[in-house]
Amino acid sequence: MADEPLTVAVVVGSTRDGRFGPVVAEWLLGHTAQRGDMKANVVDLAVTPLPTVMPAFGKPPSDDAIKLLGAVMPRMEAADAFVIVTPEYNHSFPASLKNAIDWHSHHWHAKPVGFVSYGGLAGGLRAVEQLRVVLAELHAVTVRNTVSFHNYGDKFDADGKAVDPASDGAAKAMLDQLAWWGHTLRDAKRERPYVA
Ligand SMILES: Cc1cc2nc3c(=O)[nH]c(=O)nc-3n(C[C@H](O)[C@H](O)[C@H](O)COP(=O)(O)O)c2cc1C
Repeated sequence: MADEPLTVAVVVGSTRDGRFGPVVAEWLLGHTAQRGDMKANVVDLAVTPLPTVMPAFGKPPSDDAIKLLGAVMPRMEAADAFVIVTPEYNHSFPASLKNAIDWHSHHWHAKPVGFVSYGGLAGGLRAVEQLRVVLAELHAVTVRNTVSFHNYGDKFDADGKAVDPASDGAAKAMLDQLAWWGHTLRDAKRERPYVA
């Protein structure tokens, strides 16, 4: 049904001990929860880690790898759209996130991806711009507007609310664009399957 809410996988990219990522992800989930046009499904790469050793070409993953993949892949498959929550590591995105992207292929095809980033002066935007290049290879559509937290440490209060209301406006704008692309691409694929 065209009006049925989009399933949005919110991918939490950082897996570092003591990471800040969940604060940002929870804030974003507060926004998705207020909307009738999407249902969020969290893919937290620290909670459901993925294997880092890939099989040889033409060989299946190991039994251990299949078990780990089984906790993530179905949710990537079921997603109509994605939001990636990413920090910036050395002017790029974390290896855990690249690993998660690389384990999946058609799961990204003809689906929109929005970004929420955080970091120092650049607010994680260098990570986001590099993710756009990677995701284009996977036939994903990255949405124009982003949400970024520059010097993120003082941008959330003790309850996890964003201190600057402009951040909430930015989240709404990004999610509106994600919803437009998500509905448009889902409808289009029902009419005409995407050929990669
Ligand atoms: C390996 C590493 C590299 C980093 N490089 C950058 C960087 O290039 N630019 C930046 O703004 N912040 C950088 N930082 C700071 C992170 O933005 C900050 O530590 C943030 O909390 C990381 O997200 P996380 O806590 O969810 O892991 C780096 C942090 C780490 C651990």
